[in-house]
Amino acid sequence: MNLTEKDKKYVWHPFTSFGTTMPNLPIHSAKGVYLYSDDNRAILDAISSWWVNIHGHSHPYLADAITKQANTLEHVIFAGFTHTPAVTLAERLLKILPQNQSKVFFSDNGSTACEVAIKMALQYFHNLGTPKRKIIALDGAYHGDTFGAMSVGARNAFSAPFSPLLFDVEVIDLPQCEFTNCCLGTCTGIRENAPNCQNIKQIMNKFSEIIATGEVAAFMYEPIVQGAAGIRMYSPEILDKLLEIAQKNDVICIADEVMTGFGRTGKLFASEYLNHKPDIMCLSKGLTGGVMPLGVTTCTEKIVAAYYSDDVFKTFFHGHSFTANPLACSVANASLDLLLKAECMENINRIAQKHIDFEQKIIKIIQNNKNNNIKNVRTLGTILAFEVNNDQKDSYFNTIATDIYGFFLAKNILLRPLGNTIYIMPPYVITDEELDRIYDAIEELISIK
Ligand SMILES: Cc1ncc(COP(=O)(O)O)c(C=O)c1O
Repeated sequence: MNLTEKDKKYVWHPFTSFGTTMPNLPIHSAKGVYLYSDDNRAILDAISSWWVNIHGHSHPYLADAITKQANTLEHVIFAGFTHTPAVTLAERLLKILPQNQSKVFFSDNGSTACEVAIKMALQYFHNLGTPKRKIIALDGAYHGDTFGAMSVGARNAFSAPFSPLLFDVEVIDLPQCEFTNCCLGTCTGIRENAPNCQNIKQIMNKFSEIIATGEVAAFMYEPIVQGAAGIRMYSPEILDKLLEIAQKNDVICIADEVMTGFGRTGKLFASEYLNHKPDIMCLSKGLTGGVMPLGVTTCTEKIVAAYYSDDVFKTFFHGHSFTANPLACSVANASLDLLLKAECMENINRIAQKHIDFEQKIIKIIQNNKNNNIKNVRTLGTILAFEVNNDQKDSYFNTIATDIYGFFLAKNILLRPLGNTIYIMPPYVITDEELDRIYDAIEELISIK
């Protein structure tokens, strides 16, 4: 049996139907933006694998950090013991996160970072002796695949088998301007003649009404860009207003920056686009430069104060075997070294400008040629996305996804659409020429070349 056959026989892959005809492609190595496959192809990773490899693959500086750490301290129980990589990472994160963040709790991935955040917020009220259980979520949210994260996420085919077991949340619509191209995400939605300003007013009213019940513990959101929902961008101004209402009413605001963190949106954290800072933040993905699984949940002094107590029952009884794994923490520290170099921010800005230029070009072509093969071209920081039109509705299950994936892979480009939403989310080391290769392939796909 070759590797593909053994893989099919022994391995169960995530988000992959057993009915799929596509074999999983063996990759033997990776470097920079390229994945090298067993069939001798160099595949351009235009989505940083699962949005994680911000500095590209097999970066020697990150590899060195892990090697050194593996030869020193590979792991130690994190209850009753501590170590330099974790403490250093916590201290450094708190220096670059919004200034109200004061404590770092470690876990293993994005889902657990979110799960911890939800539990931390609920237990905050429990510890204060004023239990509150309602959580407000944004329509379409994705916070991961554990039960709490699923409960606060969108109810869809992913969570359907478990729906009777998920706890109820209050859902409000995404405060999104329908006409992304008219405002590039900067629309306040409440200006005169804004196309769906009525919608936005209704959303804000509904939000206020739910909060007025006095039962709301937390509001959880992916700031400015929802990832898995289809790279949906929405107005920072409205989000800021929602945060203002929430915080005035002692509702804990949880920013899920698992996807948006570490430069992805053009700032170190998407929360920097907002005046109101979150009470709790969830980070993962780019945290380790995509090299090791690690999640962190950070919170303000107000939250942690509810846990300072001689009463043992006010302890946050949550942890994982691999909490604050030293290898993961040391590579996260090394990743921060790279991220905070001027060169990295220059790369992020360069990609952002290239995306804007491409977006403008596509919008003009669509307008001039009346090309309606695509719609909603949008970009923020290093992310560019749009929808491909076909006779099916916009959805993760739009079957055009398979054709799109195959089209790009045949050109040795990894672009894994979310249904009919195509997006680019490259490692920051991608060159202009490599970006042009992706843009060219897109233009070919949508028949404007
Ligand atoms: C915003 C957001 N939160 C949470 C998660 C879950 O992260 P993980 O897949 O590491 O569990 C994801 C994953 O895509 C995400 O995009």
